[in-house]
Amino acid sequence: MSTNAAKNLFIYGSLFCFLVLVILTIDTMGKLDQRAPEITEKVAAGKKVWHKYDCIGCHTILGNGSYFAPDMTKATERKPKEYLKKFLLDPRAIKQDSAMPKLGLSEEEADSLIAFLEWTSKVDTNDWPPKPILASATAGRTASTGQMLFQKYDCAACHQIQGLGGTAGPDLTHAGLKQPDVEWHIKHLKDPAGTVRNSAMPNFSHLGDEDLKALAEYLITLR
Ligand code: HEC
Ligand code: HEC
Repeated sequence: MSTNAAKNLFIYGSLFCFLVLVILTIDTMGKLDQRAPEITEKVAAGKKVWHKYDCIGCHTILGNGSYFAPDMTKATERKPKEYLKKFLLDPRAIKQDSAMPKLGLSEEEADSLIAFLEWTSKVDTNDWPPKPILASATAGRTASTGQMLFQKYDCAACHQIQGLGGTAGPDLTHAGLKQPDVEWHIKHLKDPAGTVRNSAMPNFSHLGDEDLKALAEYLITLR
């Protein structure tokens, strides 16, 4: 290669790469605004509450914070807002051994926080943080209707069975020993708060009678 050709290759090569960089930058900047929903007044108020109580001293959110407590980026995605609100107001009333202290939030602060957490849940984070794989609990075995409904309604977001699942509610590995009555389970699923005092479990009264029965029959097999 002559010196001239090498020089041209260097100049035009550099120009080409620079052009690609500019195009990619414009493309990314154009998409940035669409990755997060609009910030309303309530969302902004919630972010202030988040800082006031130093939630980030224990939790991570959008990649920042401490690793003492679960990540909050997608908090409202798997747990209903009503549950999260009750938990925020008084964690130990919902979960006796909770390591989260009662911070003394007002109702209004809790509502703003939920709005803020709902906002972060909707930010496109390219699927970060990764979700735990819970389906393997039934892998290899044929699942009963009740078992499939248990997965469909994401009961495992709050309950563990044989070590898999969330810990917001009691471990259900032996649910059938503790409560062997199908009717009790149906009643509890329809109206948790009317069955167990101060229950924070969301109600599943929108399910049909057949589904409720199938779920209850599955629960009593857990022994
Ligand atoms: C002293 C540490 C600490 C502080 C401060 C703290 N948390 Fe927590 N939080 C925890 C721990 C630990 C858990 C895990 C649940 C448990 O207690 O077993 C938790 C759980 C939660 C949950 C329930 C998550 C779930 O999936 O069930 C929410 C929501 C939450 N925290 C929000 C907040 C918010 C909002 C703040 C600030 C107002 C805050 N936390 C401040 C320690 C803390
Ligand atoms: C947002 C969290 C949450 C979800 C989702 C949830 N639960 Fe619960 N569950 C709880 C909490 C909290 C309790 C404890 C209070 C109570 O007994 O009502 C509980 C209690 C229970 C109990 C009684 C267990 C015991 O030891 O007393 C059963 C059974 C149960 N849930 C089944 C289910 C089923 C089935 C589903 C799905 C259709 C489900 N739960 C979804 C939070 C949840």
